[in-house]
Amino acid sequence: MNSRARFLAALNGAHVDRPPVWLMRQAGRYLPDYRAVRKQVSFWELCHAPELTTRVALEPLARFKLDAAIVFSDILVVPQALGLGVTFGTGEGPVIERRLTSASDLAAWQVRGAAERLGFVSQAVTHLKRALEGHYGLFGFAGAPFTLLAYCVEGGGSDDFLRARTLLHREPALAEKALATLADVTAEYLAAQCEAGADVVQLFDTWGGLLDAQTYARFCLPAIRRITTPLRKRGHRVMLFARGGQHLLPVLGEADVDGFSLDWRMDWRAARQRFPGHVLQGNLDPALLLAGAEPTRAAATQLLAQMREAEGGTRCIFNLGHGIHKDTSPEVVAALCDEVAAHG
Ligand code: CP3
Repeated sequence: MNSRARFLAALNGAHVDRPPVWLMRQAGRYLPDYRAVRKQVSFWELCHAPELTTRVALEPLARFKLDAAIVFSDILVVPQALGLGVTFGTGEGPVIERRLTSASDLAAWQVRGAAERLGFVSQAVTHLKRALEGHYGLFGFAGAPFTLLAYCVEGGGSDDFLRARTLLHREPALAEKALATLADVTAEYLAAQCEAGADVVQLFDTWGGLLDAQTYARFCLPAIRRITTPLRKRGHRVMLFARGGQHLLPVLGEADVDGFSLDWRMDWRAARQRFPGHVLQGNLDPALLLAGAEPTRAAATQLLAQMREAEGGTRCIFNLGHGIHKDTSPEVVAALCDEVAAHG
């Protein structure tokens, strides 16, 4: 089975010889070629150069037995396209210059033309799609509205995004309007990635798990559906990754998606029981890879057995429960991918 055929079969619920595998952040600083590229160009320069985004997206496919690629970009391209001024400092993470604190800040967002200013990402998808020559599946992605809002309100990273969580309750109308705006730009942006050749797109709700289920259902799910419902009506596929969202499982069914990416704390069987017809993806703890090849292989074998319990493992995609840590050894990643491939 060719990788893309395996990947599409898993998405469609057809027979698979084994679950396809890709890894969140599979192109990144743990790879020497990525670090070499980043010595030459800044992160934004890299994101805007299709030859380079394709080069770094292909490197993990050349090294490891992976079945899908992900376009190289970042979720913060959306606030950047809205004119918020996003920079990536060395080490301390992203900084957003023009934080969202009031209705007048929101009024200053440059919504008109934002999707066009994001055209460089669909160009990266087109370029990568051509290089994949139909051999591999291809993911596009974007940040989910709340995760983007969290960065816009905080002005950068945070452990608890308290300012963003406070805004939801103190100024719910402003928060809803900002979430709807982010959603509408994202819907258009993801449609463009699908039209450029992405087989499926993933919404990263990295910080959604900070919210209780009621707040998530009130603010996040309507914004997510503004993205997913029109995309799915056009025949595009969408996955949702709600990191730290075990407690959100009872409400996530309202997201209108094809599948869920599970974080490492989620119980695979419990998720499968709740979502028998959805694609499920995940969910090895990235920390296992830092512990070495043996614990990684053992955990992978166990997870693959759980995947096989329903329908011979179709509608399952093997992945980590969050992105690969930058200190991960490429040898361990190779061992993991070999292990998954050996289960065919
Ligand atoms: O291989 C892939 O998975 C594709 C590339 C990808 C990047 N960012 C590249 C990147 C993806 C899917 C993302 C998504 C992303 N970006 C998320 C959601 C997923 C997650 O990890 O939870 C979030 C929250 C961001 C925001 C972001 N971008 C942060 C917080 C940082 C700095 C911290 C860090 O990990 O470096 C970035 C920068 C970034 N995005 C890097 C990469 C490879 C590192 C930049 C560098 O080269 O120095």
